[in-house]
Amino acid sequence: MKVLIPGSFDPPTNGHIDVISRCAKVFDEVLVGVVVNPSKKSLLSTETRELMLNEIFSETGNIVIKTFKGLLVDFAKDNDVKAIVKGLRAMTDFDYEFQMAQMNSNLADFETIFIPASPEYGYVSSSMVKEIDSYGGDISKLVPKNVFKRMQDDR
Ligand code: PNS
Repeated sequence: MKVLIPGSFDPPTNGHIDVISRCAKVFDEVLVGVVVNPSKKSLLSTETRELMLNEIFSETGNIVIKTFKGLLVDFAKDNDVKAIVKGLRAMTDFDYEFQMAQMNSNLADFETIFIPASPEYGYVSSSMVKEIDSYGGDISKLVPKNVFKRMQDDR
C-alpha cells in the first residue's frame, strides 16, 4: 500500500523524520507531499524543504518527496494514493486533524490514518523550532543535522 504524508515541513523536524521513517517500515511506499502555500510566509523555500527531505531519505528506497499546490485530495488522486498518514502529537492536535480528515473524506474517496508521535518528539513542532531559532536558542536536538546547518547558514 502507498500512503501520502503531507505537510508544510517548515522546517522538517525530528518528529517529522520519525513519523516518515516509521511509515516507510509499515507501508510499501511513502510519498511525502510538501505543500506550496503562497499565502503563508515560510522560513524555508519549498525547494529547500524538498531538498532537505531528499537528502535525509536518499538511502531509503520507498520514500519519494514531491511538492504540491492546491487541494490535498487532488494531489493524492493524481498520485494514485488512497490514504494519507498524519502524526498526532497530543490531543491538542486531534480536533483540527479530525476535522481535516472528515473534510477530506467528504471531498474524495480517501482515508486518513493517524499515527502517534513517539514520546521523545511529542512536544516538537515546526512553529516552536522557528520561534526558538529566531531568539537564537539551541534547536540542534530538534531538527536533522542538514536542516540545522541550513538554518544556521541562513541566519
Ligand atoms: O504541516 P501542516 O502545515 O499541518 O500541513 C497542513 C496540510 C499541508 C496537510 C494542509 O494545509 C493541506 O492539506 N493543504 C492543502 C490544501 C487543502 O487540501 N486544504 C483543505 C484541507 S481540509
